[in-house]
Amino acid sequence: MPQLFHIKTFGCQMNKHDSDSISQILMNEGYQQSKSIDDADIVLVNTCAVRVKAEEKALSVLGRLAPLKQKKRNLIAGVIGCVAQEQGTDLLKRFPHLDLILGPRNIHHIDKFIAQIKKKRERISSLDLSGQITSFPKYNGYLKGRVTCFLKIMEGCDNFCSYCIVPFVRGRETSLSAQKLIDEANRLVRQGIKEITLIGQNVNSYNVRNGSVPTFPRLLKELDSISGLKRIRFTTSHPKDLSDELIGLFGELTTLCPHIHLPVQSGSDAILGFMNRGYTRDTYLSLIERLRKVRPDIAITTDLIVGFPGEREQDFQDSLRLIEDVKFDNIFSFKYSERSGTRAVHLPGKIGDTEKQRRLFLLQQRQKEITLGKNNSLEGTIQEVLVEGPGKRGNHQLSGRTAGNKVVNFFSPTDLRGELLRLNIIQGCQNSLLGEIVGAGDQKTS
Ligand code: SAH
Ligand code: SF4
Ligand code: F3S
Repeated sequence: MPQLFHIKTFGCQMNKHDSDSISQILMNEGYQQSKSIDDADIVLVNTCAVRVKAEEKALSVLGRLAPLKQKKRNLIAGVIGCVAQEQGTDLLKRFPHLDLILGPRNIHHIDKFIAQIKKKRERISSLDLSGQITSFPKYNGYLKGRVTCFLKIMEGCDNFCSYCIVPFVRGRETSLSAQKLIDEANRLVRQGIKEITLIGQNVNSYNVRNGSVPTFPRLLKELDSISGLKRIRFTTSHPKDLSDELIGLFGELTTLCPHIHLPVQSGSDAILGFMNRGYTRDTYLSLIERLRKVRPDIAITTDLIVGFPGEREQDFQDSLRLIEDVKFDNIFSFKYSERSGTRAVHLPGKIGDTEKQRRLFLLQQRQKEITLGKNNSLEGTIQEVLVEGPGKRGNHQLSGRTAGNKVVNFFSPTDLRGELLRLNIIQGCQNSLLGEIVGAGDQKTS
């Protein structure tokens, strides 16, 4: 009987990608994935530490592994990801049932650690922050049936925004070799992948720190020429590193989807300064203007934080005004959450939770209307959609995304997964669009 593993994943696309890599590594060693945590011989929790709530969630899941371990003495229980890095070996003391603590830059040796635990029954922690991906796991059918996937092009972050724990738990910025990435993208396309999202904490500074070539725009150009690769996306970009060269590519490369996630964090110059973001409201707005000049239909999304220390009512109103001015397609907004070790801990002017909640609510209410208005405005347009799989409603409902990254549901008697279709948008709803098939896509993003 093959041994089974189960991974619970929290956090951002970096963690999702890491969990995918771990799954592939374990499958190469003969393990199989189990649907349920109860059947598994190895349980891993991939954790996020970005806000206090995310961390609490991770810790509560770790606590719930204790009874599982009592039932199954040989169970291997591990914690990986950003909370593992942040709390390190303290977790071994706090959770006596844990066997493995692995920081995000140490996951590529997971097979060896598991073998060691099995052999010697010792508890292991590996928290080296200079670790790096040097090769991708061998293909073993893990991606079968998938049309889209992530490809990590860099690890870590050097920006040290004053509120953010990521640079402490993911280490310094390191870029992967371009040749390896190109080879990997080719391999993914051969496995049936049609759309690749390049991921990293700050993709537009790819290769900048180590002074290597190609830089990010050149890498995009190289990937654009891969035959069979229909779409490229990337996330996340930092506004301070968004060059004109990169903006220009939105009007040039046929595979580059017209969508950019460009976190602004605040609409107030005072708060942006305290956050150490390195740009002003005006420079951000001029980036938006340039993006829209090159590609008028580009979808733009952002992240915003409310209740940062020192945020006065007028600063918050600046954020509200910013979403009004830009009319983002969507925003991800958060209440500021204090993370120990970050510089913002020492800033005066802490905001109470009730006030943070009020600001978050107002921001989200207004954005909901803007998003719905944007989605409504797509009604009657023809959008090119890459079909990703069945929709939520079953019964011949399929789902895919427009080039601008909006989910579209539509009906089809046949499974068209992986196809690029032209759809007429019948209805724009709050979180998705409803479409009907008009014909096959023209291979370009539109
Ligand atoms: N590298 C990416 C992702 C960072 S984490 C980027 O720079 O955009 C994703 C989002 O979480 C951030 O954009 C920010 O809006 C939010 N975030 C980070 N730290 C936070 C904190 N301490 N409290 C609240 N939100 C936070
Ligand atoms: Fe955090 Fe800023 Fe780095 Fe993003 S750019 S991961 S918000 S420090
Ligand atoms: Fe969370 Fe780590 Fe990502 S802290 S947001 S999982 S980099």
